[in-house]
Amino acid sequence: MHRARVAIFISGTGTNMAALLYASLRDDSAYEVVLVASNVATAPGLAIAEGEGIATFVHSHKGVSRADHDAAMERALVDAKAEYLVLAGYMRILSDGFVRRWEGRILNIHPSLLPRYKGLDTHARAIAAGDSHGGASVHIVTPELDAGEVLAQARVAIRSDETPESLAERVKFAEHQLYPRAVSNYVSRGYDAEYLYARVRELALALPETHARDSHGSPGFRVGTEKSGKFFAHFNNQHHGEEHIAVLVKTGGMDELLDLVEAQPEIYFKPAYYGASGWVGLILNRPGVDWEHVDEWLQRSWRSVAPARLTRLIGAAEMF
Ligand code: GAR
Repeated sequence: MHRARVAIFISGTGTNMAALLYASLRDDSAYEVVLVASNVATAPGLAIAEGEGIATFVHSHKGVSRADHDAAMERALVDAKAEYLVLAGYMRILSDGFVRRWEGRILNIHPSLLPRYKGLDTHARAIAAGDSHGGASVHIVTPELDAGEVLAQARVAIRSDETPESLAERVKFAEHQLYPRAVSNYVSRGYDAEYLYARVRELALALPETHARDSHGSPGFRVGTEKSGKFFAHFNNQHHGEEHIAVLVKTGGMDELLDLVEAQPEIYFKPAYYGASGWVGLILNRPGVDWEHVDEWLQRSWRSVAPARLTRLIGAAEMF
């Protein structure tokens, strides 16, 4: 099993980091922790990680610009060959450029039931509002604070005598159960054929006049009528013993296909059988798949076989 390489950033006690770390030591964990880094040299979580033989890194944010601090933290991530960054009580906002470069690969845990109570003092605000529950949310980090897709939540009842401190303590118990599982699910979904197929299907069927049809035992997508349509994509789940989960799309021909495979073998491969007629495989079971790029290929492949009455429409629409 591929174990995703995860780095964790902390600023404080690091109890969530510890929960993530100990969960990762199980044989069936979908991820391994390759680095624990902090902006605070005295963060107690660093000693926990060191004790378990995990690489650590510290770079204080004091007296340096955000850009320089982020650059140092990012370098540590790259040096550790981390595929994902998991924030666990990291009390710094990452700069937009950093977040964009790691888009879809940074997760955070936030101590509220998002979208309620973004930012700070979440427990005090939940109590003051008379909410029946507080809790925690695991979400994808986007440039907008605490606003990315929520992946999982845990609810914690608010009692009548609750204080922000007492609620924070119980929310942490819930977080420790929630976070390792959410991280595991997230990092494995990029290797899960069902998830990958669902994404390809959504993109393929969003194009005009398309439908799904199996071909030689694999799902495919056609443009045109049910009767006379043509395939523009095939989904391959480790077909013919290949290691890849992939979508096959049409290139301009054998020269282009071979150039692509030679230049970027981590993204492209020449599929058995279909390769002979210029179809290239886009590898999906790998870290950091760019879904916009997949979408561009699907559109191009669609255009290359779609009937003129449809491509004419698209051409006209693109002129406006
Ligand atoms: C956690 O409760 C986490 O949700 C919160 O900080 C705590 C860290 O505790 N995160 C944020 O407030 C992020 N804005 P820990 O260091 O013991 O894991």
